[in-house]
Amino acid sequence: MMRMLLDRLARRALYQLDPERAHRLAIQALKSGVPLAERPEVSRRLKTIVGGMVFPNPLGMAAGFDKNAEAPDGLLKLGFGFVECGTVTPQPQAGNPRPRLFRLEEDKALINRLGFNNDGLVTVRERLKKRLSNGGIVGINIGANKDSADRIADYETGVRAFGDIASYLTVNISSPNTAGLRTLQDRDNLAELLARVLAARDEVAKRRRSPVPLFLKIAPDLTDEALSDIAAEVLDQRIDGLIVSNTTLSRRGATSRKAQETGGLSGQPLFERSTIVLAKMRRLVGPAMPLIGVGGIHSGETALEKIRAGADLIQIYSGMIFGGACLPARIVTELGTYAQREGLSSLRQIRDTHVDHWAERQLD
Ligand SMILES: Cc1cc2nc3c(=O)[nH]c(=O)nc-3n(C[C@H](O)[C@H](O)[C@H](O)COP(=O)(O)O)c2cc1C
Repeated sequence: MMRMLLDRLARRALYQLDPERAHRLAIQALKSGVPLAERPEVSRRLKTIVGGMVFPNPLGMAAGFDKNAEAPDGLLKLGFGFVECGTVTPQPQAGNPRPRLFRLEEDKALINRLGFNNDGLVTVRERLKKRLSNGGIVGINIGANKDSADRIADYETGVRAFGDIASYLTVNISSPNTAGLRTLQDRDNLAELLARVLAARDEVAKRRRSPVPLFLKIAPDLTDEALSDIAAEVLDQRIDGLIVSNTTLSRRGATSRKAQETGGLSGQPLFERSTIVLAKMRRLVGPAMPLIGVGGIHSGETALEKIRAGADLIQIYSGMIFGGACLPARIVTELGTYAQREGLSSLRQIRDTHVDHWAERQLD
């Protein structure tokens, strides 16, 4: 109770600050080891196996919050079943000029045009190496430098740098804030990208017991044709899973005057779009391919709905900004209570139950 009150007060104080400064403070607090929220009791019914990894619960911290792997252990302590750090590029990068992160309070949404600001893979690898013995599932999301002459080579470099120490890798080709990056989602580019990153993955596989699972993160702004091209390619090349989705260029559902800012929109207005794309993807790839649902989750109920729409695992980012450090524990507790009440031995039993409902809705 006391923690929740403090959490609310801290959130109110953070709202008074510029969003990037508030974010910096949150990372510092998580890094310091101060317990910000009570670790939830995790029901064994929430255990989820994906890509050979055993997740204690299906809720993850989405990429972009801890870009530089400064606080994965602090995040795991909040109750997350896994944490995705990054996006990390080969060279350190400053990103776009500030201001570049905006809170749309009325919409419970964010707009960002950060542009892959990060410390670069050498520094991030060192940090990850130092905390490796702490355990927990920590994935690394990799990207390309803005001015790279060969962007696919940047992804290969990322795979080689992290392939032996990350729990999994995510190939992020869906950020709207690096000009031209999303064209890697086009069929021919994607075929080449996947072939090359998988070859790099197999090279590093010699340094670990089994090859590092490789996920691909896609945008929510794709046509049906583009979605079916991606599905065909990931099935053909045996990618381990898809993360659906990144932020959107659409402003549907956003009413704040800040909605006109350039960048990717996340948070509650993204829920519908990202869930429709997730369900469409589940139909396209069939039941065996792991899908990770992201976009607009802010409660136990919205987390469950992502699973019903086809997700094996789920991630949040914006929900935490508005819901605070107690939100992951609350969602995990609500998922456990639901599973028990419904007599489910695993949430897999409700996966896909609303795929048709979501997949048949129109994207506009
Ligand atoms: C400020 C900010 C930075 C982000 N940076 C990244 C990133 O570096 N790499 C990435 O793959 N996704 C990034 N994302 C996207 C999130 O991982 C997530 O896909 C998206 O925000 C939708 O989830 P949400 O509605 O729960 O926020 C970022 C999102 C936000 C709000």
